[in-house]
Amino acid sequence: MNPKEFSKRRKQLMRMMGAGSVAIIPAAVAQSRNRDVEYPYRQDSDFQYLTGFPEPEAVAVLLPGRKQAEYVLFCRERDPEMEMWNGFRAGQDGACKVFGADDSFPISDIDDILPGMLEGCDRVFYTMGCMPEFDQKVLGWVNQIRSNSRSGSRPPGEFVSLEHLLHDMRLFKSRSEVSAMRKAAKISIEAHKQAMRVCAPGMMEYEVEAEFLHGFRKKGTEPAYTSIVGGGSNACILHYVSNNAELQDGDLLLIDAGAEVECYASDITRTFPVNGKFSSAQRDLYNLVLAAQKAAINKVEVGNHWNEPHLAAVKVITKGLVKLGILKGQPGKLIKEEAYKRFYMHRTGHWLGMDVHDVGDYKLDGEWRVLEPGMVLTVEPGIYIPSGSKGVAKKWWDIGIRIEDDVLVTRKGPDVLTDGLVKEVDEIESLMAGEA
Ligand code: GLY
Ligand code: MN
Ligand code: MN
Repeated sequence: MNPKEFSKRRKQLMRMMGAGSVAIIPAAVAQSRNRDVEYPYRQDSDFQYLTGFPEPEAVAVLLPGRKQAEYVLFCRERDPEMEMWNGFRAGQDGACKVFGADDSFPISDIDDILPGMLEGCDRVFYTMGCMPEFDQKVLGWVNQIRSNSRSGSRPPGEFVSLEHLLHDMRLFKSRSEVSAMRKAAKISIEAHKQAMRVCAPGMMEYEVEAEFLHGFRKKGTEPAYTSIVGGGSNACILHYVSNNAELQDGDLLLIDAGAEVECYASDITRTFPVNGKFSSAQRDLYNLVLAAQKAAINKVEVGNHWNEPHLAAVKVITKGLVKLGILKGQPGKLIKEEAYKRFYMHRTGHWLGMDVHDVGDYKLDGEWRVLEPGMVLTVEPGIYIPSGSKGVAKKWWDIGIRIEDDVLVTRKGPDVLTDGLVKEVDEIESLMAGEA
C-alpha cells in the first residue's frame, strides 16, 4: 500500500483528536507457540492501519500539533547479530525514511521518553483492555508523571478509548483497501474452484484444505482465518476446524476459507456435493439458502439499515422451511417466535476488512446503523440440520449449508467482491464434472 495512504490516515485521525492530545498505538506482541517456536507474526490491525510498519516491539505515538514531531515511532534498533538470526529490522533510520515517522527512538528507551510526551497533554487516546501488559505500562507512565506533580508536572486529565475514532475510520474502505480485498477475493475464488475440481469421495477433509493452503501460499498470501472444511455432519458444527474426517459419497461438503492480502481479509463459504451431484433433498435446501442469500444481498443498499439483509434472509428461510415441512406453522408467527433459530442460529453477516470480523459499530444510539458507501460486509445465511433432529424427516439429517459472499456497499447497489465464484446448482455440478 502506498505510504501516502498511511500518512493520510494519521492526519485524519490527528485532526479528529485535536491539539493537546496524544494517541498511543502498540504493535502486536509476537506469540509463542511452544518452546523456541513462535506463531507466524501478524501485525495488530489498528497499528498496521496507521503505520504499515511490519515489526513487533514497536509503539506509534501521535501528537497532533506538536512542533518537533507529530508522528513518533518507537521500534527496535538495527542489530547485525540479531538480524542474522531473525531477519531485517528497519531501525530508527528506516522508521523515518521508509515509514514516514517524523522522529524515531529505540523501543528500549520508551520508559524514559514517553512520559515526557504525555506530560501536560489534556487527553490520551488509548484502547485499554486489549493488551493487559501494555495497559500496565501506560498506567505506569502516567503514575510516573503524577508522582512528580509537586515539581510542577501535570498528568493527562482524560483517557479516551482510541477505538471510537479509529474503528469508524476503518469501517469505510478506501479505493486501495477495496483493491486489496478484491485481490484477496480473487485468490480465494481460485482456491474454492480448485477444491470443487479435486473433491471426491474417500478424500480426507485436510486434503481439500491443502488446496487452499497451496492456493494461498503460491500467491504469497496467508489464510485470513483457520479454514473450515466439514463434510456431512461436520458441516453442522459452525466452527469446525479439525478437518480430519473422510469425505463420504452422498454427503455435502461445507468450506469456509479466505485469503488475506496486505492484512485485508476475504471470507467465502461454498457448500457442494462430495460426489459432484446434489441429491434432491440437498438441492431443495441448497436452493433455499441461495434464495435467502440473494434476497439479503439485494438489501445491501445505501440507506438501508444493518439488519435489513438479515431480516430478508430470515423471512425467506422461514417460509422455505415451512414449505419443505421442516418447520410447521404460520411463517409470520414462526419468525416472531424465532423458530428458525433451531436451524439458522447465526446472523447473516459481519463487517469485513483487516479483521475477518471487522471493527465498526453495528448500532448507533441504539438504532441499527445505516449502510453507507465504502462499507464491506459478508452475507452468509445457512441452514444446519444435525442427525437426530426431532420432528424432522431423516432425508434432511446431516445437511449443513452456508453460502457466503463479500459485499461492498456502493451508490450503484451491492458490489459482490466474490462474484466470480459459482454458486448456482448447475454451475457447481458443471465445474465439478470438469465442464467449466
Ligand atoms: N469465517 C468466519 C465467518 O464466516 O464469520
Ligand atoms: Mn463470515
Ligand atoms: Mn466465513
